[in-house]
Amino acid sequence: MEKLRVQGGRPLEGEIAVSGAKNSALPVLAACLLTKGPVKLNRVPRVRDIRTMEKLLTYAGARVDVNGSHVVVEAGAVEKPEAPYDLVKTMRASSLVLGPLVARTGRARVSMPGGCAIGARPINLHVASLEQLGASIRQEHGYVEASAPNGLKGAYVHFDRITVTGTEDLLMAAVLADGETVIHNAAREPEVVDVAALLSKMGARIEGAGTSTIHVQGVSELHGAQHTIIPDRIEAGTFLIAGAMTHGDLVVQGCIPEHVAALTVKLRQAGADVTETENGLRVRCPGRMRAVDITTEEYPGFATDLQAQYMAAMTKADGISFITETIFENRFMHALELARMGANIRLEGRQAIVAGMPELSGAQVIASDLRASASLVLAALVAKGETLIDRVYHLDRGYERIEAKLQRVGAQVERVSSHEYATQAT
Ligand code: EPZ
Repeated sequence: MEKLRVQGGRPLEGEIAVSGAKNSALPVLAACLLTKGPVKLNRVPRVRDIRTMEKLLTYAGARVDVNGSHVVVEAGAVEKPEAPYDLVKTMRASSLVLGPLVARTGRARVSMPGGCAIGARPINLHVASLEQLGASIRQEHGYVEASAPNGLKGAYVHFDRITVTGTEDLLMAAVLADGETVIHNAAREPEVVDVAALLSKMGARIEGAGTSTIHVQGVSELHGAQHTIIPDRIEAGTFLIAGAMTHGDLVVQGCIPEHVAALTVKLRQAGADVTETENGLRVRCPGRMRAVDITTEEYPGFATDLQAQYMAAMTKADGISFITETIFENRFMHALELARMGANIRLEGRQAIVAGMPELSGAQVIASDLRASASLVLAALVAKGETLIDRVYHLDRGYERIEAKLQRVGAQVERVSSHEYATQAT
């Protein structure tokens, strides 16, 4: 198993480029199942979750041609409207094919996602919303079996709780439903807007994406299209935090400032200088960061996917910060590993109380999920000495070539195999 070895203490300097957004590319790829025509996608990040989604599309019968970050999907026929357990167990977002498969073929068999390190994460809202569009759904043997032999019918759907992939799943079902669908209390994330942008290019009729109420007028058929995925705001946020906490001078190329506005407000309050450049954001933070509280919220609030990375920054800040996680019930696994590096963090339910320390020390740590692994990389960049991060496969799920990108701006980070490490250690 691979590990990441990091020597801390170097400021990050120069330009670092952001890839396409994983959390947009996933539903955008699923949306390709809605048409026979070819969909040409640009800036698709080459990360493990994307490869899983491509396997899911191929399994269903689509043709998927990958050429670097350019992907062409052609779902001329969807012979097997299914998402098997072996693929779904590696990636919860597989449930994003449920809506498109039912809408396109009138049926779907999708494995239930199972447990996740950051919370229960049920898909009850996905299921309930499709039932409101007339699908009959039963859960059996670990699978969701959905059918709508006469097609879906538009309806007024209110989400009791804001759900990002739930909104995307329903949107992708509603575009081929008969009549109008209104999605109330919809997610407003930029990734939802990006999926809606592709669907509109395919001929869908959507209004209000990016607001809490989305109107969809169903059409009988969609056609092929071309689309460029938005930049990854979570990757951009990760790099902005890294630039601030290493006291470097970093330009994060290709990010959309508005998409990370909730973060930049906090970084500025913490003493960082964040300025807009022609094509992104520049971050500098010569002095010690100040402790600043955050509460995670749905977009446009502070992203839960940046909470772990922000906590890493607060472990060395001047003062005590309160970090409140409102989206997921178990998203503080990284705190225990940060404590192994000398961080002072007290957990109380959904709140972490972080007392900033003058320094962290390198240690052997284990990543528990995607963003927790990014948090450990950031802490390692500012820790004294060497840190060894285990289970970096979590990182590869959502960060494209992260160590190469960090090396280019001065980080001392390398990937080592367990065997390599063991031989060097003796
Ligand atoms: C998306 O997950 C992202 N994943 C997550 O990013 C992100 O953390 C999350 O949105 C919140 O921003 C993708 O886009 C692929 P939710 P999603 O449905 O859609 C509860 C990363 O690191 N809920 O908005 O699964 C749920 O348990 C990942 O890239 C139900 O109860 O999140 C959670 O507490 C991690 N029933 C809350 O709602 C449902 O049917 C919000 O979850 C659906 C959700």
